[in-house]
Amino acid sequence: MTVPDPETERGPAGLQHPRFARAYARAVEGMNSRGGTDHRRALLTGLSGYVIEIGAGEGSNFEHYPSTVAEVLAVEPDDHLRELARRRTSSAPVPVRVVAGTAEHIPAAGYSADAVVTSLVLCSVADQGAALAEARRVLRPGGVLAFYEHVRSDRKLLAAVEDLLTPLWQRAAGGCHPNRDTLQSITAAGFKIRDNERFGFSVQPLAPPVAHILGRAVAP
Ligand SMILES: C[S@@+](CC[C@H](N)C(=O)[O-])C[C@H]1O[C@@H](n2cnc3c(N)ncnc32)[C@H](O)[C@@H]1O
Repeated sequence: MTVPDPETERGPAGLQHPRFARAYARAVEGMNSRGGTDHRRALLTGLSGYVIEIGAGEGSNFEHYPSTVAEVLAVEPDDHLRELARRRTSSAPVPVRVVAGTAEHIPAAGYSADAVVTSLVLCSVADQGAALAEARRVLRPGGVLAFYEHVRSDRKLLAAVEDLLTPLWQRAAGGCHPNRDTLQSITAAGFKIRDNERFGFSVQPLAPPVAHILGRAVAP
């Protein structure tokens, strides 16, 4: 039997979104320069050891990993974004290995990671419960889930608008759900929230601020 090589294999057919991937790779630069970079630094500060980043996109986080991190395994299902991410590994101050894979099937052994990083990805996974259970599988007890995610508004009217938008947005934006209560999902998966900041952030210049969370949760 041939064992698939995550370095060379292609991502799952159902998770290829070439049009969104190209648009995101262009848009993320602007988002980073308007504040996203500060969020990414805050997300990664203080992490150490072996880190798994799921849904790494085009690798915007890589250059912000602190030198206390020994190695990063960056998992990205989209072939185009993964290729861009590979090109960015040289700008990282720590070793980063980029592989094909999904949040639901992380190519890593159980209890092998000191930290799992998610940034703007739990909105896009098909099944948050499965993805967070997988994060728990790979994290050692006491390991850290570092998260930076846009989430459902806590204003009823806005949340209702997000519910209305979701079916269309999901199709246009690579599976992204604007209406998820991700903090609640993290807690429901058995993590203990250690800290969390909630704030509004406009991802596009003229777009209204969207609720984001940035924090740390600990695996039992
Ligand atoms: C909005 S982009 C964010 C990319 C990057 N994390 C960042 O901070 O810029 C969403 C990412 O989630 C990835 N993604 C979607 N479904 C996924 C899944 N089931 N498992 C892992 N990654 C997934 C997409 O391929 C894409 O890279």
